[in-house]
Amino acid sequence: MKKTNIYILAIESSCDDTSCALLCNAKVLSNITAGQKIHERYGGVVPELASRDHQKNIVPVVDAVLAESGVLLSEIDAVAVTRGPGLMGSLLVGLSFAKSLALALNRPLIDVNHMQGHVLAHFIDSDYQKKPQFPFLCLTVSGGHTQLVLVKDYLDFEIVGETIDDAIGEAFDKAAKILGLAYPGGPLIDQFAKKGNPSSFRFAATKADGYNYSFSGIKTSFLYFIQKAVEKDKDFIEKNIHDVCASYQNHLVSVVLKHAWKALGDLQIKHFAIAGGVSANSELRRRVNEMEGELGIQTYIPEFQYCTDNAAMIGMAAHYKYLKSDFSKMDLSPSARMPL
Ligand code: KG4
Ligand code: ZN
Repeated sequence: MKKTNIYILAIESSCDDTSCALLCNAKVLSNITAGQKIHERYGGVVPELASRDHQKNIVPVVDAVLAESGVLLSEIDAVAVTRGPGLMGSLLVGLSFAKSLALALNRPLIDVNHMQGHVLAHFIDSDYQKKPQFPFLCLTVSGGHTQLVLVKDYLDFEIVGETIDDAIGEAFDKAAKILGLAYPGGPLIDQFAKKGNPSSFRFAATKADGYNYSFSGIKTSFLYFIQKAVEKDKDFIEKNIHDVCASYQNHLVSVVLKHAWKALGDLQIKHFAIAGGVSANSELRRRVNEMEGELGIQTYIPEFQYCTDNAAMIGMAAHYKYLKSDFSKMDLSPSARMPL
């Protein structure tokens, strides 16, 4: 007899969030994430501290998910886990835990590409939103990646363009650090920008071939801009924080959407989605919404809670792999630079 309910326990530990989720037939029963405050004081994620905290957090997070979902370990059909890309030490904690659990329960292990997870967060069964139709173009923007991906099916992806240096999330976080804001600074820039004028300051654009991106020059030009301004007026940041954040955010969003517009036209794609941590950005979300009318296309923005790193999206990707019996070998190692 065919099993009607597929229960997947998923684990995500690629960076500094320890997350576990339990999904039943692609519906999230529980999704719990333990963040790591310790990195704030260093202005960025310290890999060694991140893996130590994952070790501390992983068992309590899994226990909390089991308690909240009311699902017994014996009912789980597969254990899913992020294999990469991410920080090696962080990935190792999640993968070792998932392997041990799968072995102990005698259930298959399903490894998931983190970036694929971000894209498939759109298909989490919720009443929140419409689901994208294939083929669609997905702009995946996070702390480690900036990619334009042509999504042909749940597990069929083609990278159309990507950053040749830094990710857009790094451009947000580095600028925030320069402004003296805490890590991760992306959400703080978003907050300050709400009360600022986006046309107050102009920043240089950098070029890359085709649909590729480059953010490292933008970061450096922001640093020089602030250094010069502070030389002239030591209170410049304090006086102008709202306008600086609004202008810089506006610039980053314009840069990242420019190629997306072009690719949508060139490839004749009528469906456009955004994914990844930076898709939580309010200006990006606003501008993507506007594209519906401007380009006559359908756009898709993930539910806020599934934009940043979470295990529900890993469980979602694993659900489609489970349907194809695409299981992983137990001698699998993490892949810090795992390609999509
Ligand atoms: O996907 P994610 O949680 O982790 C990675 O896979 O990297 O993305 C984290 C990134 C950070 O750079 C953070 O500053 C950025 O997403 N981020 C934002 C916002 N919320 C998170 N950037 C701009 N505006 C936001 N509201
Ligand atoms: Zn991510």
